[in-house]
Amino acid sequence: MKEKLIIFDTTLRDGEQSPGASMTKEEKIRIARQLEKLGVDVIEAGFAAASPGDANAIRSVAQVIEKSTICSLARATESDVRAAGEAIKPAKSGRIHIFIATSPIHMKMKLRMQPDQVVEAAVKAVKLALEYTDDIEFSAEDAVRSEMDFLVRIFDAVIQAGAKTLNVPDTVGYSIPALWGERIKQLIESVPNSGKVVWSTHCHNDLGMAVANSLAAVMNGARQVECTINGLGERAGNASLEEIVMAVKTRRDVFSCDSRIDTTQIVPASKLVSSITGYPVQPNKAIVGANAFAHESGIHQDGVLKHRETYEIMRAEDVGWSKNKLTLGKLSGRNAFRTRLQELDIVLENEDVVNNAFARFKELADRKREIFDEDLQALVSESVVAHVSEHYRLVSLRAHSETGLLPVAQVRLNVGGKEFVADSQGGGPVDATFKAIEQIVQSGIELQLYSVNNITSGTDAQGEVTVRLSKDGRIVNGQGADTDIVVASAKAYLNALNKLDSKAERAHPQV
Ligand code: KIV
Ligand code: ZN
Repeated sequence: MKEKLIIFDTTLRDGEQSPGASMTKEEKIRIARQLEKLGVDVIEAGFAAASPGDANAIRSVAQVIEKSTICSLARATESDVRAAGEAIKPAKSGRIHIFIATSPIHMKMKLRMQPDQVVEAAVKAVKLALEYTDDIEFSAEDAVRSEMDFLVRIFDAVIQAGAKTLNVPDTVGYSIPALWGERIKQLIESVPNSGKVVWSTHCHNDLGMAVANSLAAVMNGARQVECTINGLGERAGNASLEEIVMAVKTRRDVFSCDSRIDTTQIVPASKLVSSITGYPVQPNKAIVGANAFAHESGIHQDGVLKHRETYEIMRAEDVGWSKNKLTLGKLSGRNAFRTRLQELDIVLENEDVVNNAFARFKELADRKREIFDEDLQALVSESVVAHVSEHYRLVSLRAHSETGLLPVAQVRLNVGGKEFVADSQGGGPVDATFKAIEQIVQSGIELQLYSVNNITSGTDAQGEVTVRLSKDGRIVNGQGADTDIVVASAKAYLNALNKLDSKAERAHPQV
């Protein structure tokens, strides 16, 4: 029997710290349900002290998830620990994750605290957290640049205070595998009672080594890895869950532990996170990229046809790649629609949202012969968003492009209940459409990113457009899907404007 490797997913917390990736409560619940299906052991659902909305989202996730432990992040302060403790209260199994920076540069320049004060704050916070749960994790932020003696001292102190999991983060993505493995080994050897706690690692990808560093930690005794779906996260992201899980599974000859992840749920989880956050997956991304199992060269194709294992170390179906599953068509009724949503674990509590999603489905089915699960996920996202806030709504769009002529677009919008029309020219039909929208809304935003991906294959597939807008330091991603990518673009733009309109300010845990 292999030892257990605990998978701690922080897509809903560290992943959410990616620019524009902030999620609504409903979106977090949808992702949490998929993480539970995937078999994630711990779901870090957010940072309760960030805002009342964040605390509420953690509480809602804690109410619906049964099999995974639900965790909230907290700084080592009384108010943060209490906010986290209250938020995880409804969970069947709840964890509080306390962190404080331990490197000289962070203690001096950011916290402006003496090392003794840092130890005191950590111990006090752990003891307070025990009022809410006995499952306490402690992280020494920026452990990579912390002094070994100080790490040993603070970890010893928090074990005595009651912490059960000790996390060693490479907060700035600075380490390299051999050094990181060595650091974990030394800590386990030097901290008194280290055998009574679970050692964990949390690596960022600034030098592209988050997964390699995490695996080095595992090879040296870490039994929890903190990671995110698609490697989403601050800056260059976190270690990617799918790569860690598949490395440990595929190279079982070198790892003495294994996770309990149902790997066939990996690709659906990747697609869901990508569609909700607006972060597309690059085609050559390991495991979940569209080309991860595609063999282009003739020699490779020939080898795979003769004997699959000549060029394949994993099977595409084992990580959830299957031919797009035909779900519904034009003649499918409301019952079939509802049943498929249930099978996908999509729970829509509000009847208006169900009606809206069904109307969108019928409209899509008129234009697209076959509707796949991915199409359903996209249209449900739109219906949920439409229900929460739609100050700006697309009424109609006409775009025209012809070789030799400047593309033009006419947009009709409903803004807070009133209709407005605008015409514009542009470099292309999408540009003309955005300019026409701006004539009406005059938002003053900056467009930071525009990208189009196909949701399924074929020329009748829906295009999923992501736009990233920023205004006054706030950044949001908007998504829109349609078989017409100009319409999808307009929807994405308006979705982002609606988010800018409605999203409240939140505190950032590390600032
Ligand atoms: O990167 C980091 O150090 C973190 C901690 C809060 C664990 O995200
Ligand atoms: Zn982090």
